[in-house]
Amino acid sequence: RIPVFLDCDTGIDDAVALGYLLRSPAVDLVGIGAVSGNTDSSQAARNTLDLLGIAGVTGIPVAVGAHHHFSQDYRGGAAHVHGDNGIGGMQLPRSEQEPDARTAVELLIDLSHQYAGTLHVLAVGPLTNIALALQADPTLPSRVKAFTVMGGACLAPGNITAAAEANIHNDPEAAAYAFAAEVTAQWDATLVPLDVTMQHTLEEQHQHALAASDDPLARVLAEMLDHYMDFYRPIFGRRTCALHDPLAAVIAAGEIGLSDAPRVPLEIDTADGPARGATIADLRGIHRGTGDSSRGGVRIVRAVDRPVIDVLLDTILR
Ligand code: BDR
Ligand code: CA
Repeated sequence: RIPVFLDCDTGIDDAVALGYLLRSPAVDLVGIGAVSGNTDSSQAARNTLDLLGIAGVTGIPVAVGAHHHFSQDYRGGAAHVHGDNGIGGMQLPRSEQEPDARTAVELLIDLSHQYAGTLHVLAVGPLTNIALALQADPTLPSRVKAFTVMGGACLAPGNITAAAEANIHNDPEAAAYAFAAEVTAQWDATLVPLDVTMQHTLEEQHQHALAASDDPLARVLAEMLDHYMDFYRPIFGRRTCALHDPLAAVIAAGEIGLSDAPRVPLEIDTADGPARGATIADLRGIHRGTGDSSRGGVRIVRAVDRPVIDVLLDTILR
């Protein structure tokens, strides 16, 4: 099983990703960092702990990350998307597990030693904790087998601005740090942008299947999805929602095939203009049918080989 460190801003789709990672036979979730994004890092940690409690899981350390971002202040979460507390306003029973005494950065660095050469780092929020960890220990990538990020919009429109996706836009300098050429030369980096995540939705019948489960975690996910599906209704023209973080989780677990994922140079726009937070992938090679770079770079997932909802439901409702 793949040892995975999850860094998240829990978050309704983060919660679905967590549910999948807890149940996937391909994954050993060894630690979780909380980052400010959909909600602040303390609330994200609380949400994560309470979800672990509902799942009946103990023993996975959950560490709080920095409240503010690497390059800018945290300016409040995405209440219109994820509710005031990140999980659609649901009041979950408080788990007895408390946050780990370490910071998210300390936890990640410790795990990178414990699982040196095998650890997968999966980031589904702003890259604040990851950049801080790289700053604290520049040798980190040499011990990490793979780094998978939900974020960015390459040829697709952004979702927080015309050009940028929320996770990257919340902390563009952190993203620039994590995807700097000298860093990506050392770890196997994959970006799962809106270009592909907006193609993968959870529909009402899937929500109903979760709600009908006798698994308490599945039922809680179904309930919080209400808020998320209301947000997406005007965007898709039907009650549905995009599976951003769950798709990145399934990719990190290796449980879905990548049918179009060229490895190309990637730059993050950190200028203070309309494209701040844009992910500029050099996809010029796609016209030759390759796009593959000999210069290292980042794998940009543009298509996967089946609907991710099938994998999610199979695993969560197993
Ligand atoms: C990303 O932003 C957050 O709101 C979601 O949890 C996801 O990680 C999508 O842009
Ligand atoms: Ca997220």
